[in-house]
Amino acid sequence: MVFTLTTPLYYVNDRAHLGSAYTTLACDAIARQRRLCGESVLFITGCDEHGQKIQRTAEAAGLSPQAHCDAISEGYRQLWQSWQISNDRFIRTTDPRHRSIVEQFFARVEANGDVIEGRQQGWYCVACEEFKDDPHEAQDPECPLHRRPLEWRDELNLFFKLSRYQQQIEQLIRQDGFIQPQNRRREVENFVAQGLRDFSISRVNLPWGIGVPGHSGHTFYVWFDALLGYLTALLEPGDEPDLQLVSERGWPASLHVIGKDILRFHAVYWPAMLLSAGLPLPKRVFGHGFLTREGQKMGKSIGNVLDPQQLLDKCGRDAVRWYLLRDIPFGDDGDFQQQRFTDLVNNDLANTIGNLLNRTSSMARRWFDDAVPPAGGAEASSHPLAAAALQAQGLSEQAWERLDLRAAAEAALQLAITANGFLNDQAPWKLIKQEDQQAQVAADLYAVLEAARQVAVLLAPLVPELSARMLAQLSQVGEPCWPAALRWGLLQPGLGLPEPQPVMARLELDAPL
Ligand code: MSP
Repeated sequence: MVFTLTTPLYYVNDRAHLGSAYTTLACDAIARQRRLCGESVLFITGCDEHGQKIQRTAEAAGLSPQAHCDAISEGYRQLWQSWQISNDRFIRTTDPRHRSIVEQFFARVEANGDVIEGRQQGWYCVACEEFKDDPHEAQDPECPLHRRPLEWRDELNLFFKLSRYQQQIEQLIRQDGFIQPQNRRREVENFVAQGLRDFSISRVNLPWGIGVPGHSGHTFYVWFDALLGYLTALLEPGDEPDLQLVSERGWPASLHVIGKDILRFHAVYWPAMLLSAGLPLPKRVFGHGFLTREGQKMGKSIGNVLDPQQLLDKCGRDAVRWYLLRDIPFGDDGDFQQQRFTDLVNNDLANTIGNLLNRTSSMARRWFDDAVPPAGGAEASSHPLAAAALQAQGLSEQAWERLDLRAAAEAALQLAITANGFLNDQAPWKLIKQEDQQAQVAADLYAVLEAARQVAVLLAPLVPELSARMLAQLSQVGEPCWPAALRWGLLQPGLGLPEPQPVMARLELDAPL
């Protein structure tokens, strides 16, 4: 069975920001971890290119919507390439095959009696592309998220009969593990408990969208079209756009990772649409938190937006991945703080992990002919570091299961801390001077090198390049497989060790990013 994993399909109204990079990096780590476990993974990302917001942005830039979308989505594609994101698909909702999938899906929903005409009145946020339920202010209401004026709309639209799915959605969101984390599930439960209302799925006077078949003058509401992008993305390059194919191509999704602001669309509207079209439901929806910067919301007007490409150019992939995944509990809001960023990268990666490997391998080379020392016979597997490694492995496994990326990072880091502590306590640089302690020194260095190898294996999904550099320093070839590579004692005594190179450069930022 394939593990289908998605990021949101990003709006192309603007270039990617750190928030979009955060979701994509987290998904990349999840996809890599699953692949290391031997699972077949289909990792989908892409762009959401229709709707009023994009039409207006293109107009303001003096471009046709298509030219605008081409430019921005190409920027996304290149950004993910330079971040070495391991996505298998990159879907654009302006892909001609997507139009056909949307039409087929709509035909099913309509045939099921779930489309009615109705009058849509309400306050609309173009930035959210969403009607707001009950704006607090009666006059000139603003979107609480974007702090921009809402627009009054009064149109005849097509509606999807969401209200028919009240019971099924209630049941679905009660299922353990469908919505994660727990606190987000409660938000959705409260929303559903208020009673689901039919929602409009078409717009009139909005040319930049997919036309609704049989309803001239109507284009699909951008969210109706965008969610279906997850289905179109499953098609292989040579496939005809046939909705019936999606079940053979990896549907249902195993996991949708999204930001908390779009949870309602994924955990309520989307499953109801799928039920209506007779398609299976995604297994899990994970809503992560929002990133701020030095305590402030990131925004163009404040001028504090962090550009993911610049961040990469200045700091490198490993540093940023480590900081975001290790410091922010996945699911909670997080604050990007430059000082903490440099401190964590330097302390965890350069000092604790990098130096552990560097100094141990230097000692092994100096005293044991440039090679991995002898492991020390039968006692090797009962070494205290073997127990620590087993514990780290258990913690890491559990952490990945609950998508607790921070705990997965901490499990690896803790093993490195324990190994450093062991090295300091044993002080092989003193023991080596005693004739009768040579075997002990060998066994100790072997255990620390083996622990470092395991740290590298545990780090592979989180900071893949650092992990690969560490494994190269230990003369390990090929991608590690989980859990096989986590068996204690795989490091071969006598294996030649290359001259140590620092595996992680210190991060020295002399100016604000
Ligand atoms: N196009 C829709 C998604 C359609 S999915 C079928 C959309 N796009 S978006 O570009 O506006 O947002 C994409 C993701 O970025 C969302 O998950 C959103 O939560 C996330 N983030 C936007 N700002 C963010 C932060 N400041 N921090 C973290 N994530 C944030 O919504």
